[in-house]
Amino acid sequence: MYGQKSEPARPRDRSSAVSKKVFIKTYGCQMNVYDSKRMADVLKPHGYSSTESAEDADLVILNTCHIREKAAEKVYSEIGRLRAEKDAKAADGKNMYIAVAGCVAQAEGPEMMKRAPAIDMVLGPQTYHRLPDMLKSAEEQRTGGRMSARVLDTEFPVDTKFDYLPTDESAFEGAAAFLTIQEGCDKFCTFCVVPYTRGAEYSRPVADIVDEARRLVARGVVEITLLGQNVNAFHGDDGKGGTATLGGLIAELDKIDGLGRIRYTTSHPRDMDQELIDAHRNIASCMPYLHLPVQSGSDRILDAMNRKHTREEYFRVIERLRESRPDLALSSDFIVGFPGETDQDFEDTLDLVRRVKYAQAYSFKYSPRPGTPASVSEEQVPEDVKSDRLARLQALLNEHQLEFNEASLGKEMDVLLEREGKREGQLLGRSPYLQSVHVNVANADNALDAAGDKPYTDYMGKLVRVRIVEAGPHSLKGELVRALN
Ligand code: SAH
Ligand code: SF4
Ligand code: F3S
Repeated sequence: MYGQKSEPARPRDRSSAVSKKVFIKTYGCQMNVYDSKRMADVLKPHGYSSTESAEDADLVILNTCHIREKAAEKVYSEIGRLRAEKDAKAADGKNMYIAVAGCVAQAEGPEMMKRAPAIDMVLGPQTYHRLPDMLKSAEEQRTGGRMSARVLDTEFPVDTKFDYLPTDESAFEGAAAFLTIQEGCDKFCTFCVVPYTRGAEYSRPVADIVDEARRLVARGVVEITLLGQNVNAFHGDDGKGGTATLGGLIAELDKIDGLGRIRYTTSHPRDMDQELIDAHRNIASCMPYLHLPVQSGSDRILDAMNRKHTREEYFRVIERLRESRPDLALSSDFIVGFPGETDQDFEDTLDLVRRVKYAQAYSFKYSPRPGTPASVSEEQVPEDVKSDRLARLQALLNEHQLEFNEASLGKEMDVLLEREGKREGQLLGRSPYLQSVHVNVANADNALDAAGDKPYTDYMGKLVRVRIVEAGPHSLKGELVRALN
């Protein structure tokens, strides 16, 4: 049960329970989005409520990403801006604490402390449950007159942060939620910092995940995206003396009443087992969308990246997936300009893209990351070549994405309405294939639905049947057919 070990989540004394505000800025992947929510949760019992700006914050947390150089540099510019805010507050006799969390913190903690004296706390991705204690110690030291009190915690502790999740009974926050089930990575692709910043692979026990999913559904969540850096390598304790695979876990979660949609990300091609492939055929709540990064279409580069599969093996996995679920939409990540990538290697990537035809994809220029094997290769690709390849790859991916969206025209599909659209009477949601869909649910005159008896916001958080009437490169437009839940 969560909450039993939640000592750090309870206020220790009255002084720490006074009302304060925390502003959390999140960079990077969805796991950071999940972690940011959990940091807000652990701070709540200590009197911290969330705010959307640094101006009125007593504590600012930057939850950082180290995946590419630009991502990390953004953090330092943000700290520069925050320092001005902090100084202005200090002039008014007020404190503002700055904490840096996440993957830059893990990778460069001590260096950051040196480079940016405005930082009060640095905490790695595995220690956010200790945040209240860190904060308390910084506060105590400051009250004691030590203005330079600073805390660094980038351990990989034996107790896991997941054991300290508070029982969160808060109100509806959205129909779609993230749930981290696996963290860390043992694969060591030669370009990637994740195994260093997130540590070794760890899978949460099935019972804990089911428990957290139930609580989310009780709060109105209809769709859960299971997160992990290697989510399909999941092998959590099944409570029966064995381990469950991701396919097995999805089957368990499917039993939860009210949980309409299950997604998972990010998967590695090598860990796509038959049970998971079958889940796409047999389990209706398992959505027909899969992010399966390949990075490159060249065997030579795949090998140099230490991806441990060939392009043919990747095609075979996709074939099996499409046999199981013919309408499966695929997505991928690509890196262009990996050290040693020739024109031919890049052509192989374009060829792979033409064969697979992705519904959407992310692509990046290779960015040398300190401490990774590829960063010291002497075959670095010039910047202009990288830019040219990226533009060509993205043009092709965009073409396919538009084709995929246009194929939706005239079709009916289920859309989970998640937020208000730009126009009155319009809500924004996602199709089963993760496309953004703008849906007109109201008649424009009175902002009631077509039947004239329901304010359009009543559809928020609901699954509806929609007919697609327009398709663009990045989104679809649909008309409401009927409500589904
Ligand atoms: N676990 C996932 C990827 C996590 S990182 C997987 O195995 O595919 C997200 C994406 O960032 C990667 O898929 C990769 O495309 C990109 N990326 C990681 N390191 C990078 C680097 N050094 N330069 C450019 N892109 C990088
Ligand atoms: Fe990084 Fe590779 Fe692990 Fe993905 S599988 S997180 S790219 S090391
Ligand atoms: Fe970035 Fe760390 Fe996620 S490096 S992509 S925040 S795992």
